[in-house]
Amino acid sequence: MANSNLVRKQYHERLVLDVMEVQDSRGTFAEDVARGLAASPKSLPPKYFYDEQGSLLFEQITELEEYYLTRTEAGMLAAHGHDMLAAAGDPLTLVELGSGSSSKTRLLLDILAKRQARVDYVPIDISPTVVTEFGEQLLNDYPSLHIRGLICDYHQAMGELKSESHGRRLFLFLGSSMGNYTPQQAVRLLRVVREAMGPQDRLLLGLDLKKDAAVLRRAYDDAKGVTAAFNLNLLARINRELGGRFELERFRHKAFYNEEQGRVEMHLESLVSQLVPVNGLQRSFSFKNGETIHTENSYKFDRQGLREILEPCALAIQRQWLDHRRWFSLNLIEPV
Ligand code: TRP
Repeated sequence: MANSNLVRKQYHERLVLDVMEVQDSRGTFAEDVARGLAASPKSLPPKYFYDEQGSLLFEQITELEEYYLTRTEAGMLAAHGHDMLAAAGDPLTLVELGSGSSSKTRLLLDILAKRQARVDYVPIDISPTVVTEFGEQLLNDYPSLHIRGLICDYHQAMGELKSESHGRRLFLFLGSSMGNYTPQQAVRLLRVVREAMGPQDRLLLGLDLKKDAAVLRRAYDDAKGVTAAFNLNLLARINRELGGRFELERFRHKAFYNEEQGRVEMHLESLVSQLVPVNGLQRSFSFKNGETIHTENSYKFDRQGLREILEPCALAIQRQWLDHRRWFSLNLIEPV
């Protein structure tokens, strides 16, 4: 281990966590809320969606009729996982950016467990409890599985993985999570992934594709209002953790496809002109009627759009899989 501020904890014979210290104090919740709500236009960093409540709501989103992404991607992994893993080489260590419940990863572990005597899995997540809880379940189901969780952000993780000797690795970045970065941020992240990759390593990237605007909008504004609750939970969280006085009925979830930018945007729109105190920040924030807080982007891709973020990173598409509706893509990416 190259990094001295990395602490190893052994949870199980086959489960270790390497916890990396947070290197800078940039971006506590309080600071980011104060900055984002004082700015014009207002925005909040999407990473704060995922407190306990938000993570539960997100799990529900993935099961919604309108939210085709998770279902489509899982179907593709089930149908073409053999091809994907064969194209990536043998034997493989899986490295996953943002592992969550690892439910889609299981589809690949099923195949690897039959193909190689030992399977190594390196989930990267900022939450140690996510990795230990889901990790224990995985260990029960896969006797040849060894898990090394990296508890840190993706940039730190790539720095660490770059300096280690290793066999052939397949990096996984699923769920169109790359689409939640601006193209500029995506290039920054892909560059560090590329730097961590050896010539034999590959990246499997799940990306949502451009399509009919109404289909896209519905996926981010479902009939049951689960996505609305997910978005509004950000204000509820400010109330819970920072003594905010947001009245949720005075805001509404707003999602639309911005064709020009090729992205779905999520906002919270103020339904009245109002002044909202946040006691923990010892200040109030004023909202005009109709003013929005921009909370999330979800970029949609086509092959050209993907090439444009890969090229500056010395990465290329080795193979691409699409579902029958051509709504979602899985891309095997190689270093060039
Ligand atoms: N990356 C996924 C997407 O853009 C998941 C996601 C992130 C999401 N933030 C979201 C889904 C907000 C619904 C609402 O679709």
